[in-house]
Order: sequence, then structure tokens, then C-alpha cells
Amino acid sequence: MPAHRFLPRGPLTGRLRVPGDKSISHRSIMFGALAVGETRVTGLLEGEDVMATAAAMRAMGAQIEKSGDEWIIHGVGVGGLLQPEQALDMGNSGTSTRLLMGLVASHDITTSFTGDASLSKRPMGRVIDPLSLMGAHFEASPDGTLPLMMRGAQPAVPITYRLPVASAQVKSAVLLAGLNTPGITTVIEPVPTRDHSERMLRGFGAELEVEEVDGERIIRIHGEAELKPQQVEVPGDPSSAAFFIVAALITEGSDLVIENVGLNPTRAGIVEVLRQMGGSIEELDRREVGGEPVADLRVRHSALTGIEVDPSIAPSMIDEFPVFFVAAALANGTTTTSGLDELRVKESDRLSAMAAALTGAGVQVEESEDGLTIQGSGGEPLRGTSNSRTKTHLDHRIAMSMAVAGLASRDGVEVDDIAPIQTSFPNFMELLDRAAS
Ligand code: S3P
Repeated sequence: MPAHRFLPRGPLTGRLRVPGDKSISHRSIMFGALAVGETRVTGLLEGEDVMATAAAMRAMGAQIEKSGDEWIIHGVGVGGLLQPEQALDMGNSGTSTRLLMGLVASHDITTSFTGDASLSKRPMGRVIDPLSLMGAHFEASPDGTLPLMMRGAQPAVPITYRLPVASAQVKSAVLLAGLNTPGITTVIEPVPTRDHSERMLRGFGAELEVEEVDGERIIRIHGEAELKPQQVEVPGDPSSAAFFIVAALITEGSDLVIENVGLNPTRAGIVEVLRQMGGSIEELDRREVGGEPVADLRVRHSALTGIEVDPSIAPSMIDEFPVFFVAAALANGTTTTSGLDELRVKESDRLSAMAAALTGAGVQVEESEDGLTIQGSGGEPLRGTSNSRTKTHLDHRIAMSMAVAGLASRDGVEVDDIAPIQTSFPNFMELLDRAAS
């Protein structure tokens, strides 16, 4: 458990590029592993979570290797996954677990999934339910957590499933099971969530339709699909960029350009909300990379004003709330959030973890069932932690958010464990050193 003290420093200047998008990286490996032929991926995030997906797809028959800057994948074809010899170790990664459960659900193989202490607490019932309806069998603990064993169904049964939670992972699990299911599998999404699976499945040649009816999205996938190998360019991860966006906004004198940031509308809520607070975030050179909108972002230190965040924007910034709470802690006035129950079942309970972390650093925070209310310092440095340590609960985003809080503190912020940062942002410390030197 390497602890680290993040000291006040800055300003953040120059240009930097964050690693590839985690969601898109997972999917590029999975879909490449299901296409017959050679898929090439550039810009892949080489974090622990994505490597867990790669190891699992190898264990089920795909060939995946790195050559220079490219990852080269030889797939087994939809329906061709082999039974792994050992349990699949998913580490800290909910995305790997839930999406791979979807893939296995329509293959005639038996698979066990295990994970670390954080992942072993997270709810899997939300994917077990629809995948059971498709015919898969599960043996899990009664509360539906890892470790679990599942046997896929062959043939699986196509279903129409209305998502009870706004979750791209559940949506994707059902769509991926649908890839190898004869007939049409339908997901109804009352609240839009990230649509990388839909975009990329189409790019790989799957027959997939999206219809909008009364604000709901109806997604239909035709099985059994055939995927064609692709050349994929993964854009930079807006969730990783968010740490540097907030760091530059709250650190006096900052003027930073973050290059190649993915701005898919289902992911870009953080930029919109920070702008509503008065943040200066300029989009330069808007373009498309790998079928996703991308821009370079110029971020300048700004006086932020507290706001009431509209809960309907939450799905498009669901992973950015921890660092958003840090921005709120430096704003002028009160920031209120609600409708964030999902944050309690992420890598940690992010509402209580951030309430405790910010309180420990001298911020006035009130925790409700589904949100936080934060009194901002009006730009004054936070006190920081002098003899306590922020508990990160194996959650990379808590560690990086409190690293950002440390920049804008008087005494610095001590984080108990920075190892989890490796799951999503392996060069975070190096980029922070470079930008804020
Ligand atoms: C993800 C979806 C989100 C997000 C996670 C990645 C994905 O989870 O929090 O980091 O790649 O589909 P939920 O779908 O559970 O909200």
C-alpha cells in the first residue's frame, strides 16, 4: 500500500495527452477477439483493468500481443470462445466482469470470475438477471457478488430487456450476449448511457439499430452476428482528462492544453457542468477519432461558482463526480448534487468516500442518501491533511481526486494508497509532475 503526500503546487501549464479511453479500450479488445482475422488497435489504455480483459480473452482463445505502438488481436469469431482452464481474475474491473459475463452467457462454456476486495463487493445481480432470462446459469453468493461461476446457454434466447438502472455495463452485457443469440435481442434504455458498444459494434459490422421513442432509446442487435476485423484508434479518456481539467481550473495561473480528449456527448457532462460554474474550457480543433468526437481542451484557472447540479446529467459524468466534488470544494458558494445512488456501487462507495476525504481535508460537506452538498472555499486553499490519511478504499478515482485537492491545499493531502491509480491511468504521477512543475 504505497501512501503519498500530494503537496500544493502549480500552476499547470503546457500541453499533455492523457491515455486512451478505458471503456473504448476494453471494447476494442473484446470485439477484436470476436472478429475473424487481424484487428489492430492504437492508443489502447495499458492500465490494469484493460489488461485483465486482454488476459481473459487470451484465456478464451484469442491471440493478443503488442507490436511497437499497436496492439494486434487475432479473434476466434462470434461463437468461438473456448472454455478457460482457470478462473478469470478480473482484478478491480467491473467493466471487464460485466461485459465478459455477457459474452460468456451465449457460449457453451463454464467460467468462474474472481476479483479483488473492491470488485467482490459490487452488485452482479444486475447482469445475472437479464442473462438468466437468456438461459445462462449462475452460482453466486446470495447477494449476487463475486466469486461466481456461470454456464452459458447454447443456443441462448433473445430477450427484450428494459434497463432498471442507468448502466452502460448492463446494456452492453445484454447486447454482447445477443451477438451469439439467434434472432433479435432488444435493450430499452430509459436514460441514455455511454454508447461506445453501439458505435463500435456497428463499426465491426454487426447489424444494430437504435431508435428513439419518447426520449427512450431502443437498441436492437441481430444475432448470430459476424464481426469483421478493424483498425481502431482509441481517443483520450475524458474521465482521465477530468483530473487535469479540474486541477487547472482550481490552481492559480494555470493555462493547460489537454490534447485528443474524447467528447462523446454521453461522456462529456463534466465539461458542461464545469462551464456552468464559470470554468474556462475551450475546445480547439474539434475532429473525429475512431468514430468518436474529439478535441484539444484549453483550460485556464477560473473563479468557480457553486451550483445545483441537474441529476439528469449524471449518467454523462458518472465517473467524474469524485473530482467534481473537489472543484465544488474550491468554488464560491454551495454546490448541491442529488440522484447519485449509483456512486455507492462503484469501485468504492464514492459518496461516503469523498465526504470523508474532503471533510478530512477541512471542507464542509453534508452527505445525503443520493448526493453531497459542499460549501466551497471561494478559491481559498483547503486546509489539507496534516496528521490523517485519506482512505481510498482501492478506488483509483478517489486517489486521483484527492491528489488534485492536494494541489489546492495549504498542508498537502496524504493519500493512503496510490497503487489503484494503475488500473486506469498508469502515468498519472508523471503527467502531474510535468504539468505542475
Ligand atoms: C462503463 C460504464 C459505467 C462506468 C464505468 C465504465 C463502461 O458503469 O462507471 O467506469 O465502460 O461501460 P455503469 O455502466 O455501471 O454505470
